[in-house]
Amino acid sequence: MEIKTIGVVGAGQMGNGIAHVMALAGFDVLMTDISQDALDAAVALIDKNLTRQVSREKISQDEKDAAMGRIRTTLTLTDLGPSDLIIEAATERETVKQAIFEDLLPHLKPHTILTSNTSSISITRLATRTDRPEKFMGFHFMNPVPVMQLVELIRGIATDEETYDACLKVVEKIGKTAASAEDFPAFIVNRILMPMINEAVYTLYEGVGNVRSIDESMKLGANHPMGPLELADFIGLDTCLAIMNVLHDGLADTKYRPCPLLTKYVEAGWLGRKTQRGFYDYR
Ligand code: CAA
Repeated sequence: MEIKTIGVVGAGQMGNGIAHVMALAGFDVLMTDISQDALDAAVALIDKNLTRQVSREKISQDEKDAAMGRIRTTLTLTDLGPSDLIIEAATERETVKQAIFEDLLPHLKPHTILTSNTSSISITRLATRTDRPEKFMGFHFMNPVPVMQLVELIRGIATDEETYDACLKVVEKIGKTAASAEDFPAFIVNRILMPMINEAVYTLYEGVGNVRSIDESMKLGANHPMGPLELADFIGLDTCLAIMNVLHDGLADTKYRPCPLLTKYVEAGWLGRKTQRGFYDYR
């Protein structure tokens, strides 16, 4: 089964990056969101990011134009019916994701593969709410999507090999590398990355270092491109906390206890770059 059309649900930070890389690789993209403003902002951002790639001679103007021409947007979720592959990148709330799949199902072709870009919700559990758990899996991109090389491919307990192979071919076609992960809380990247970020927040909380010294230490001392607190701001502190809670609940180990300071920042609405304030002040 050849994948030609990809339906992207959600036009936020991850959704617009996914639409960008898919269109550039030659897939037809149908992108949906509940907000016209979000769709317009996503298309403008894709245009801007593709223009930057043209100016750095990574792609030609023709390739950019062709990619933009392959992206169609809609406010109507069910317009994604003709898709061969759905990548859901909506809000990281299980009930929202379940409702999206339930609404979509009656409009999809029998062969359509369903995937979620979830960073931590159980793929097996999401799959049970669909009519095709064997055609359901995790398709987890890293942020910023056009830049990061990795995609985690996560099999639910029922995912069949044909589905996995079809998704692997898509990853190869967009020029990225797939890491195969089993369906356990937070998969691979976030299982390792989030406890490090949480530990950095504890280091701040306990006064071992300040924001700058912690970030400088990891940038210059461990060669990380961003310090852990800067990275937390980039990912979103609410997302970091949600993933720590999934690890804490799912693995029942106190080593995953979210730092109280992280909880306090989220309660304050200081969520990082997206709210202009997190460990750093972006105002
Ligand atoms: N969209 C598209 N392209 C972007 C971009 C964006 N948002 N941000 C940067 N770029 C491009 C730039 O155009 C530049 O391209 P060229 O190489 O063609 O010049 C390249 O990326 C490098 O960017 P900059 O020179 O502006 O900045 P930088 O060298 O400081 O790199 C960074 C920026 C790539 C974000 C780098 O700091 C980095 O790798 N940070 C760590 C990111 C990371 O760890 N991501 C994973 C988060 S975890 C996750 O996503 C999983 C989850 O579920 C939470």
